[in-house]
Amino acid sequence: MWRDLHPIGRDKDTTGYRRYAWTAADADCREWFKEQATARGLTYELDRNGNQWAWLGDPTAANAVVTGSHLDSVPDGGAFDGPLGVVSSFAALDELRSREAEFTRPLAIVNFGDEEGARFGLACVGSRLTAGVLTREAAYGLTDGDGVTLPRAMERAGYDPEAIGPDPERLARIGAFVELHVEQGRALDLSGDPVGIASSIWPHGRWRFDFRGEANHAGTTRLADRRDPMLPYAETVLAARREARLAGAVATFGKIAVEPNGVNAIPSLVRGWLDSRAADQDALDTTVTAIEKAAHDYARAHGVDVSLTRESFTPIVDFDHALRDELTRILGKETDPPLRVPVLGTGAGHDAGILASSVPTAMLFVRNPTGVSHSPAEFAAEDDCLAGVRALADVLEGLACT
Ligand code: GLV
Ligand code: MN
Ligand code: MN
Ligand code: MN
Repeated sequence: MWRDLHPIGRDKDTTGYRRYAWTAADADCREWFKEQATARGLTYELDRNGNQWAWLGDPTAANAVVTGSHLDSVPDGGAFDGPLGVVSSFAALDELRSREAEFTRPLAIVNFGDEEGARFGLACVGSRLTAGVLTREAAYGLTDGDGVTLPRAMERAGYDPEAIGPDPERLARIGAFVELHVEQGRALDLSGDPVGIASSIWPHGRWRFDFRGEANHAGTTRLADRRDPMLPYAETVLAARREARLAGAVATFGKIAVEPNGVNAIPSLVRGWLDSRAADQDALDTTVTAIEKAAHDYARAHGVDVSLTRESFTPIVDFDHALRDELTRILGKETDPPLRVPVLGTGAGHDAGILASSVPTAMLFVRNPTGVSHSPAEFAAEDDCLAGVRALADVLEGLACT
């Protein structure tokens, strides 16, 4: 499976992946998914929000067990964030078939569309639409960096944007969702375990800061006469680090847009996007409020205006305790001596976090020896990936088979 998936959307220079929603690379990933489904005799289905499903058993029956992840990437992302969950799902099904497992519940493998939000700025668009936490109107307003709207991009890719919207009937048929994912930190490396179970996802959000000053000549404008928005922006970046450290949170300015973006022009606009996350809501609120105050103070000192827009927010997700315990029980039982399966929280967002408000949901993490993610250097060893597949197969067997 990897052999066919690896080359899709991979940049030759950076070796990172550029698989953005509704682009040619995304279409190739979708084609790959469809081929995997068809080759296994599964019933292939594209839902109203562009998520792909591969069904073993009746797609309209109740109490389905669903597994899967996403195939899109961040800019220059790694090979595992998303794809490991989808590849492992197909591999786990192959494993169950070789065990001649008898299914008592329908099983589906899903590829959620636009998980990373790399193109339209909002993460988990496919699952948010399905869960009804992103309205159709709001989705229609999403625009990429070239001014192409989401519905237009879908249309260009051959999909019907008219159809998008909440899908409660589909969610009501799902009895459990389990997403396997490469770990995006080093907890498993430090504990020495190949596989872990997720406890929670930290609350997290994205905020856009617009610093507006005055464009002017870089050579002839006296320093005292400038209204340069780059200065309060730079100070705000430093404040973000300081405030996050004080509150025990994380805060990142990873994306910036400058106008007019000329080497010899003082900027008129500096737009910076803040991503901030923390283990609890209070720490996150404290951090973002302090960064906002710093931005206003620095902007005022430089004669610059600043405005702040919250572009997305996901509250804390506490994964289903009963399902979590069930996973621990299944994984502990299947091996001798029992597999030690740590339970860990994460600062990364996932479709599982969106589904968790409507469906009993759990996650498995596979060890990442460096913890590096959202980078071409992201890695998981083959043995650990196989341990992940076996764990997922055990879980699916425990949930969906006699
Ligand atoms: C998605 O991977 C996110 O956590 O931003
Ligand atoms: Mn990611
Ligand atoms: Mn992911
Ligand atoms: Mn993600």
